[in-house]
Amino acid sequence: MDRYAIILAAGKGTRMKSSTYKVLHPVLGKPMISHIIANLNDLQLKEKIVVVSEDAFEVRELLKDEVEFVVQKEQLGTGHAVKMAKSLLENKKGVTLVLCGDTPLITSNTLKMLLEKHINSNADATILTTRYTNPFGYGRIVRDSNGDVIRIVEEKDATNEERMIKEINTGTYCFNNQVLFTALEEINNNNQQNEYYLTDVIKIIRNNDGKVSAFITDDIEETIGINDRIALEKANQILRKRINENLMKNGVSIIDSNTTYISSDTFIGQDTVIYPGTILMGCNKIGKNCHIGPYTEIENSQIGDDVKIKHSVISDSIIGNNTKVGPFARFRNHVIIGDNVNIGNFVEVKNSTMGSNSKAAHLSYIGDSEIGNNVNLGCGVITVNYNGKEKNKTIIKDNAFIGCNSNLIAPVTIEDNAYIAAGSTINQNVPKDSLAIARSKQVNKIGYAKKYQK
Ligand code: UD1
Ligand code: CA
Repeated sequence: MDRYAIILAAGKGTRMKSSTYKVLHPVLGKPMISHIIANLNDLQLKEKIVVVSEDAFEVRELLKDEVEFVVQKEQLGTGHAVKMAKSLLENKKGVTLVLCGDTPLITSNTLKMLLEKHINSNADATILTTRYTNPFGYGRIVRDSNGDVIRIVEEKDATNEERMIKEINTGTYCFNNQVLFTALEEINNNNQQNEYYLTDVIKIIRNNDGKVSAFITDDIEETIGINDRIALEKANQILRKRINENLMKNGVSIIDSNTTYISSDTFIGQDTVIYPGTILMGCNKIGKNCHIGPYTEIENSQIGDDVKIKHSVISDSIIGNNTKVGPFARFRNHVIIGDNVNIGNFVEVKNSTMGSNSKAAHLSYIGDSEIGNNVNLGCGVITVNYNGKEKNKTIIKDNAFIGCNSNLIAPVTIEDNAYIAAGSTINQNVPKDSLAIARSKQVNKIGYAKKYQK
């Protein structure tokens, strides 16, 4: 049976009080909608259709390679939103999964079980439900005396008695595709919110002798709908815990899970220890036996095995094995560092490569540079990469030794085995095996200080 999905993401998100499009609000650094699309990936769907409003340019840009879009010009309700996909799906046979763009924590495993229940019970509609002790705000599942689902009632339309129902609609459903689009023709907006509710198709399908079923999940945390920033915070905490526990189960030590935020696209090898205050966002691959943190941010980077990084901020970088970084180092804009390197206290590296066994242990700026193997940059070495108009490149070849507090004015090349005297300001290339001294000569005026004091 062919499978399709419709993801509703056109809502105004008024309760977020934000100029950011609702489904783009990130949960652990990744937009809500991207979590949903990622979770759909192993469900063998033939088509994924996202319903968006007219101004959803950023959503389109983000998902352009993964889904199709339909526009809902006016936000007249969830039922109206699903109808926007009609021209694409109404003639197709199969199962259609409908999800809300604001429920990013539902796992693919739960979705698989929902689909399975739907197919095995031969239903026309299967609702993913759960039970909340405080169901406020959610649609309630109304069942008859046999326990069969007869309809869903929204909070605002519910009687006091219906509000006592703890079983809620998670906003996720499976439908027989053709039954869904036929039922949608019958919905109206005679309700408290004057909206065309998708939830009304349940009673319509029942009335037309269709079969409605429900799959109740016990994992109430998965089903949280993010309508405001309080729920957004909650979702961040739930996902943080889920990801961290998963990593721990796979052999990663996390000293303080409460202060460790790791994205769903970060892979970490066995026996790596993550210290408190560490934030790993975007897509990262971190090797085995590393010590990361405390207080370290890493984004979109690859870290080798046996690496130690303390109190540092690293983005868009590749770091080799057995390298030490920090405390207080910063890497940004494409940094590639080899094995056994030491980048120490207060060193910034930008758009540069550094070979293996090299060192910049203290207080340096390395920008737009190509540094070889076994190079030593003394304390305070600066690559002067910017002349006020453009950026220029510094090349330092293997085994060079750059004395403390030297300025290397780019473009400049320091050849293999060259030696630069401390305090030099270098603006000419330095040949192989040579010593460059570019500072004024010292003069000692004997006894002058004593005379001066008088
Ligand atoms: C909806 C359900 C409710 C359920 C809850 C679960 C309805 C009527 N109610 O309520 O039963 O318990 O989700 O979280 O369906 N959207 C559109 N176009 C619209 C309106 C909404 O695309 O015109 C999208 C929103 O972007 C959102 C989703 O549909 O992703 C749900 O809409 P929302 O307004 O958040 O519905 P809830 O009030 O949470
Ligand atoms: Ca919602």
